[in-house]
Amino acid sequence: MESVFKADILKGKVALVTGGGSGICFEIALQFGKHGAAVGIMGRRKHALDAAVDVLRSQGIRAIGVEGDVRKQEDAAKVVESTVKNFGKLDILVNGAAGNFLVAAEDLSLNGFKTVLDIDTIGTYNMSHEAFKYLKKGGPGKGSTTGGLILNISATLHYTTAWYQIHVCAAKAAIDSMTRSLALEWGTDHDIRVNGIAPGPIKDTPGIQKLLPEELKYRAGDNMIVERAGEKWDIGMAALYIASDAGKFINGTTLIVDGGYWISRPRR
Ligand code: HXC
Repeated sequence: MESVFKADILKGKVALVTGGGSGICFEIALQFGKHGAAVGIMGRRKHALDAAVDVLRSQGIRAIGVEGDVRKQEDAAKVVESTVKNFGKLDILVNGAAGNFLVAAEDLSLNGFKTVLDIDTIGTYNMSHEAFKYLKKGGPGKGSTTGGLILNISATLHYTTAWYQIHVCAAKAAIDSMTRSLALEWGTDHDIRVNGIAPGPIKDTPGIQKLLPEELKYRAGDNMIVERAGEKWDIGMAALYIASDAGKFINGTTLIVDGGYWISRPRR
């Protein structure tokens, strides 16, 4: 689908997208690149990163892939620094790397719970903390008046709750809380906007392919996930809106982009 935005709205910006090798976060990297940004993508799987970078470059986007695990402080530092070394600065950090699997609470080991918290929550904090000195107003390569943006990819699962997702609900709730805390501290003192996007189910992503039991994909009804699933494009456009100057007054919020799915109920 064509973008609804002008092609230069992120001209001159540099973005780093964790989990940018596939799914929603690849789409965000692609849309940022198509609208003028240089993009670094971070992930654990080299082959996925290489393939993603090829696609980005084939569209004329300045792109690099840097291997790393968001849970490790040394990886976070290395990836942030590589991005700055390549492109001269950092304007936007998208915290998209996430772990997910469905499991009943009684079958979820302590390590399984911790692993998802580590990737999602600790990873978001770790990356944000390492990126801070580059994102803040006056950071390297930046003017003295403009700070950057952190965009945290959340979910809506924890607004009510979700079966077999105790670990993910806890992780995403903590991310939403961090979005507000960092927006308060870094928005006030350093001109860094910190926002989130909470996508609903999105078609053709590894997340939905992995998580949705087969029968749900084909069940009829007006409250079913696939009928209400969005496109990756919807998330890309929301990210562009928040990242562009159109979103310059948005700070500390998590934008739900789910077509109203989380508030939907069976018709009576
Ligand atoms: C139960 C599991 C499990 C499973 C892993 N574990 N998979 N427990 N059921 N399916 C447990 C392991 O047994 C182990 O605990 C612990 O978790 C760590 O597992 P590892 O495989 O060693 O960890 P690691 O290699 O770091 O991988 C972590 C991972 C990750 C979370 C499993 O590989 C992963 O999920 N990748 C998928 C990424 C993904 O799908 N991202 C998209 C997210 S979409 P023990 O006790 O045995 O040591 C999304 C949107 C949600 O978030 C909304 C959709 C509607």
